[in-house]
Amino acid sequence: MSRLFEPFAMGGHELANRIAMAPLTRSRARPGNVPSDLAPLYYSQRAETGLIVTEGTAISPSAIGYLDVPGLWTTEQLEAWKPVTKAVHDRGGVIFTQLWHVGRVSHVSTQPDRAAPVSSTARIAADSQAFGLRDDGMAALVDVSKPRALTTEEVRGVTEDFVNAARNAIEAGFDGIELHGANGYLIEQFLNPNVNDRTDAYRGDTLEGRTRFLLETLDAVIAAIGAERTAVRLSPYGQLFDNPVYPEIEETYLYLADEFSRRGIAYVHLMDQSTRGSSGTPADFLAKFRAHFKGSLILAGGMTRERAEEMIDTNIIDIAAFGEPFIANPDLVARLRNRWPIERSDHAIHYGGGARGYTDFPEYSAEGVSA
Ligand SMILES: Cc1cc2nc3c(=O)[nH]c(=O)nc-3n(C[C@H](O)[C@H](O)[C@H](O)COP(=O)(O)O)c2cc1C
Repeated sequence: MSRLFEPFAMGGHELANRIAMAPLTRSRARPGNVPSDLAPLYYSQRAETGLIVTEGTAISPSAIGYLDVPGLWTTEQLEAWKPVTKAVHDRGGVIFTQLWHVGRVSHVSTQPDRAAPVSSTARIAADSQAFGLRDDGMAALVDVSKPRALTTEEVRGVTEDFVNAARNAIEAGFDGIELHGANGYLIEQFLNPNVNDRTDAYRGDTLEGRTRFLLETLDAVIAAIGAERTAVRLSPYGQLFDNPVYPEIEETYLYLADEFSRRGIAYVHLMDQSTRGSSGTPADFLAKFRAHFKGSLILAGGMTRERAEEMIDTNIIDIAAFGEPFIANPDLVARLRNRWPIERSDHAIHYGGGARGYTDFPEYSAEGVSA
């Protein structure tokens, strides 16, 4: 029997198995970026998985690049997350929330007072779209707006916003938080020297400079909630939202791996974007990252049962994360374990709407009738 379905001790967290639900934005929040009334049901339906990471959750009003995403900066938002964490814990699950700032992947229609989005740079992300409002007021994919570079002082303010959201997360009952350092959003806009053209302490052309924002934020969050409740998601070699590859990728991420090890964080979650149009993560890079990072390692991106078992059994990763398959298969863990069919999801229901395509997927039954 593969270790995939066996319990795993992830730092101080006892996981029922080595399967994680990757963060999935579903754009169903209520006005005020308050999690949907259906979110407790949605997440508890999926709580048989060892670890749930919530959808990207905004840390402040200016962190938003997509309409109808939940946040964690107001009391109302915090209160609405409590039934979610309770519902997951009642089923024995462990749940982290993904804390998110989109940086320049945003349109003025999702910014306070239609202000310019903020980033490490004032250069616009080429060929990139966010989910905002068109000029006629219709919700749609719109070209991102030109950003404004954060001042040095403002960078520290964003760190404070992450800390505030992390404290709120713990108060809302989450087991921990995952900093969203992947997929071309704000943290990666600092990490990538082809994007980060700053000249201050957070400059992109030195290793210490480009990693400073992430590491300072990590340290501030650890000081607030503890290393065992703090994690990071990264997508080395990913190129989403105009984040071109650069020669120092390996040096940058292996340095981060060492720094994460020293801090003893809960886990690192890598996303391989090769199934989403970027060049893949080289196999030897994963092995090197593994050698540098001593904690629990999660990998997402085109996972199958076979690939997950092989990577866990050969000790390349500890936990396998699945994203899209969790949308139409709330009982994904049972389906993987029993080799039952895995339903594909219709992309039209991924973002926005109500219960349809969100909480109305049946569990598997041999007769094809909902359980
Ligand atoms: C509908 C949808 C929403 C997503 N939202 C997020 C998100 O909020 N944060 C994030 O880090 N990744 C997000 N992702 C990426 C997934 O977490 C995952 O890494 C990716 O889908 C690859 O895994 P998969 O091949 O198992 O789907 C999203 C993916 C999909 C399909």
